[in-house]
Amino acid sequence: MIRETSISDVDAVAELHHKSIDNSFLTLLGVDFLKVLHEGFVESDLAQTFVYCEDGIVRGLICGTNHPKGFLKKIFFLKLARFTKIIIPKLLTNPKILFSCFETLFYSKKTQIREDAELLVIVVDKDVRGEGIGSKLLTHLLDEFSRKNARKVKVIVDESNTYANQFYGKMGFNIEKSVKLYGKKIDVYSRSLT
Ligand SMILES: CC(C)(COP(=O)(O)OP(=O)(O)OC[C@H]1O[C@@H](n2cnc3c(N)ncnc32)[C@H](O)[C@@H]1OP(=O)(O)O)[C@@H](O)C(=O)NCCC(=O)NCCS
Repeated sequence: MIRETSISDVDAVAELHHKSIDNSFLTLLGVDFLKVLHEGFVESDLAQTFVYCEDGIVRGLICGTNHPKGFLKKIFFLKLARFTKIIIPKLLTNPKILFSCFETLFYSKKTQIREDAELLVIVVDKDVRGEGIGSKLLTHLLDEFSRKNARKVKVIVDESNTYANQFYGKMGFNIEKSVKLYGKKIDVYSRSLT
């Protein structure tokens, strides 16, 4: 069953995000960081957030925005005190992450493709991948974007994430350009919603 994410889902959503995406900068910042981030998504009027639940357990999540320009920056400043408290100790042990923090805040300009919606996060529990849950969540979000009159949606994907690249190809997305972010090649996919 797909439903809107509520504040009471945030802990489960952050835990699922944390255990399911290895190797991404946001995941490296830790589960407490992800809790604040997902709380920001749920509270924002500019975001659309859904979970896929089975027997009351969150098995998948999806978050998007129909106001992609500088969206993460807005969430960051909304939760500035809590993000700072989590990030500062990490910066003291690994100052290099400061550069990645700036890349995260400003990536939307670098990856701009005249989109008016963006898929920010999609995660399905490892135990139930390949069962169609990701497709259902994505279709649900795309329908929501269409209802909000969005015409073009963007998602950025690490080139090395083979499964996700196949998934977006199957769901009708095409690579529009590639950029370098976090020292990796990142593909910028788009799909028309009309
Ligand atoms: C990407 C992701 C959300 C897809 O969710 P899912 O529920 O497994 O997707 P679906 O079951 O709807 O599968 C849709 C398509 O993905 C591809 N796919 C599914 N299982 C796959 C596998 N084991 N290997 C490669 N491709 C696979 C296929 O193209 C599949 O279509 P098909 O069933 O017609 O063959 C999920 O793999 C995931 O959570 N990955 C980790 C997080 C992540 O990388 N998110 C995207 C970051 S941009």
